[in-house]
Amino acid sequence: MRIIGTICVSLLTMAAVLAAPALSANSQPTVSSGELVVIGDFDSRFVPARDVYVWLPDDFDENGEYAVLYMHDGDMLFDAAVTWNGQEWGVDEVASRLMAEQAVRDFIVVGVPNAGQERNAEYLPEQPVRQMEPAQREAWIAAGGDVAAELRDTLRSDSYLRFLVEELKPYIDLRFPVLSDPGNTFIMGSSMGGLISIYALARYPDVFGGAGCLSTHWPGALPGRESPFPAAMRDFLAGSLPGGKRVWFDHGTEGLDAAYPELQRGVDAVMREKGYEQNNWVTYVDQGADHSEDAWRARLQLPLTFLLAPPEDRSLATVSSPDGRLRFTLNEGRFGDKTYSLTFGSETIVRDARLGMRFAKQHGFDRGLELVSVNTNSHDSTWEQPWGERRVVRDRHEELLLSLQNPQGGRIDLRVRVFDDGLGFRYEVPEQEGFGTLHIVDELTEFALPQDSTAWWIPGRRYNRYEYLYRMTGLEGIETAHSPFTLRTPRGTHVSIHEAALVDYAGFVLDQRRPGVFQANLTPWSDGVRVKTAAPFKTPWRTIQVAEAATGLLNSSLILNLNEPNALGDVSWVQPGKYVGIWWAMHIKRKTWGSGIIHGATTAETKRYMDFAAKHGFDGVLVEGWNVGWDGDWFHNGDLFSFTESYPDFDIDEVTRYGLKKGVRLIGHHETSGNISNYASQMADAYDLYEKLGVSQVKTGYVADGGDIRRIDENGIAQYEWHDGQFMVGEYLRSVTEAAKRRISINTHEPVKDTGLRRTYPNWLTREGAKGQEFNAWGNPPNPPKHTAILPYTRLLAGPMDFTPGIFDLTFDGLDWRHRVNTTLAKQLALYVTLYSPVHMAADLPENYEARPDVFQFIVDVPTDWEESIAVAGEVGEYVAFARQERGGPDWYLGAVTDSNERDLSIALDFLEPGHVYTAHVYRDGASADWKNNPYPVDIEKRAVTNDDVMELWLAPGGGAAVRFEASGDTVPVSVDRP
Ligand code: NOJ
Ligand code: CA
Repeated sequence: MRIIGTICVSLLTMAAVLAAPALSANSQPTVSSGELVVIGDFDSRFVPARDVYVWLPDDFDENGEYAVLYMHDGDMLFDAAVTWNGQEWGVDEVASRLMAEQAVRDFIVVGVPNAGQERNAEYLPEQPVRQMEPAQREAWIAAGGDVAAELRDTLRSDSYLRFLVEELKPYIDLRFPVLSDPGNTFIMGSSMGGLISIYALARYPDVFGGAGCLSTHWPGALPGRESPFPAAMRDFLAGSLPGGKRVWFDHGTEGLDAAYPELQRGVDAVMREKGYEQNNWVTYVDQGADHSEDAWRARLQLPLTFLLAPPEDRSLATVSSPDGRLRFTLNEGRFGDKTYSLTFGSETIVRDARLGMRFAKQHGFDRGLELVSVNTNSHDSTWEQPWGERRVVRDRHEELLLSLQNPQGGRIDLRVRVFDDGLGFRYEVPEQEGFGTLHIVDELTEFALPQDSTAWWIPGRRYNRYEYLYRMTGLEGIETAHSPFTLRTPRGTHVSIHEAALVDYAGFVLDQRRPGVFQANLTPWSDGVRVKTAAPFKTPWRTIQVAEAATGLLNSSLILNLNEPNALGDVSWVQPGKYVGIWWAMHIKRKTWGSGIIHGATTAETKRYMDFAAKHGFDGVLVEGWNVGWDGDWFHNGDLFSFTESYPDFDIDEVTRYGLKKGVRLIGHHETSGNISNYASQMADAYDLYEKLGVSQVKTGYVADGGDIRRIDENGIAQYEWHDGQFMVGEYLRSVTEAAKRRISINTHEPVKDTGLRRTYPNWLTREGAKGQEFNAWGNPPNPPKHTAILPYTRLLAGPMDFTPGIFDLTFDGLDWRHRVNTTLAKQLALYVTLYSPVHMAADLPENYEARPDVFQFIVDVPTDWEESIAVAGEVGEYVAFARQERGGPDWYLGAVTDSNERDLSIALDFLEPGHVYTAHVYRDGASADWKNNPYPVDIEKRAVTNDDVMELWLAPGGGAAVRFEASGDTVPVSVDRP
């Protein structure tokens, strides 16, 4: 016997109104098979503390997956030697035998002792009593005398259930390898324990999948002919008992049980009304049996096999990752539909989740699907990125192609690719008769995720697009969420749900339909249709990344691997790099986009930035507010923008000529304010102009509320679309392909989410799509310190982000002001490494950099294109550290950031090339630094390191560290000590 916590063996006095059992001696039960774990004195906010018994079967496997049976009267279950009446349920004996015979699935039993004298107070269902007519209730209590009055005052079965569900179950789920879903969670008891079991099922249908109620004491705690309790209980069940659960009732015919048949028949009528049938409900009569543990023991195998029957194998086809750990299975659903599940080792990541889609005018792929054929394929190749976080990417996966047919003969394929680090699946609808014009009204794809997971998410389909602070909650706190949607399961596995290759289709948000079950809810057009298409077509890939460690998510190339190869041919003209710009000055209100005395985009100011850029090796200068249309309320007057006409004080020919002489390009800017038709009509001319002037990179902007992109339709009527609906998915890509024709690259702000299309269209360099640095200029509120410790694990899993790091004047309106940056100075440097983007801005004003040349040196040195990237440490929302090797050179860089907590990191430098000496240029928080009161101290030091070293880094609260490992060219001297 294992004992957890302090044991307090309570000597409970026996008050056997019914078979009210209690522990008779100060000894713990012993079991004849399996093992009993005693959780000593389990403390509760709801009920008195008590020991809890957890019975584990023979050959218990810490990595197994067990169903859980919660049982009341926990003292009476295992060992007759310690019970008050010398009888026991024989749970260990019966359960072991049934498991050995494989008559039941593997399960553990959580035995919860009763509260002795207050057993009835915990087991008598509270709501039926409360719902009685007051007069009835008083009469009932009057008839029951003092005992009844006392019971009324102490009644706390709702608290008892809260103890089971809110305290005990989470504890069990965390500490034992159990399946926590309702399909594997059952509750059982006898007599009053039967009442509380069926009550628990009615009160917590999302927790329990079935109840075993033996010799249920329908009269309630107080016997008596006139008791209104049975009718009240029946009414309660008629109102509250959910359908579709598994319910076992039984009784004997002797002793107390002789009073049950009539009352049971009343409940049986309720069961039939609720649609219960033979397959999910049994009322069993045990002829000649009395009201005792001996009787329950004798028939225990019946309720156990009924509730815990091994799940039938409904799998139709399966495919595992190359390393065998991840496994996708297609299942026969319960309603003639098809579902899928995903396991990671012994852990279920997605349980039985729906597949399919529905059309407006054609029969959909929903129910009655037939699996026509199954094909498999193995793939292992490598490919190169023209630019990226790593040059060489390995694509190694197993593929399953499932051809399905609906009852009307419509055909759809499901293509599944399983990698070691996750999977993708997509629907492919082949060309076929009657599928010429298709309006998808719903995609049914679901993700049924582990309960009690922790998620990091932003709300979906809201006005501020993707620009929300990430929340960390349990799944129950979510209605709709954008992807990438990141979670950690109760077993500590990290999962991210997203999509890859979103082309000519609607993006989805995850819509929690039932607890833990999220539907891929496609963003509709303004007319409500989700996708307008025609066969043949393919949906984007629905992706699920899975990794043990949080950093495993960061080191994955799954999204890129599921995109099509480069469609643009020679893309040597696409250039990663760093830029500065006339930008932050507007956000902190020192300059304006619109014309006037502090207009930012003037010829002179642009030349000043170009001089600065040339001096420090930046290749671009972004200039916003250069074109006509910014005056007035530009947010709402997007139809006034001209994309070819500059303000008079901005000589575009002059500045581009000036820049080219200095080796600095103007970076173009098109803010559309979401007025998409105005932009579309000028797009060709606007890009032609930039091409002519040698502008090779354009930042676009789609500032408009979610659902408020203004499209003028073919009838001249304004329609309003979402940024992630099918229409805009097409518009964003059109800007990219139109730009590509002119050798222009695109950086999209207020974009649709990234789904890896940079692989196919390498001129789609980066985008925004989350709260960036600009929020620190606006306040209300600025990004908190943890924001940049969440982004890599969420937004950045989609692809690069134009965050615009590098603010040096962190407190431009004062230290205490709400417009300020919530980081230390060193952390601003670290962001160049921790947030990947092939183009990064040095966002602050030139004068602020010139004031700190020592610190600025890191921004000058750090590249934005990498040979390799490795997330070396981190936990979601707490901290992250990346090591990256520059592309085309031997140097490595390290960036580490923390949330508002200070942190000591030990980073093994084993990523460096063995045998070489590097000069580490370390920029780290000064000893007294913290983001709030003292953000500026940075310690800069140089030292020689090799790949044998471990670097200790202290990160201040809200701080970070940045390191350049400059290859010195020296090799490590051969030393006698070194093997
Ligand atoms: C929003 C963009 O994110 C920001 O960078 C830009 O300055 C403004 N729109 C104006 O276009
Ligand atoms: Ca923005």
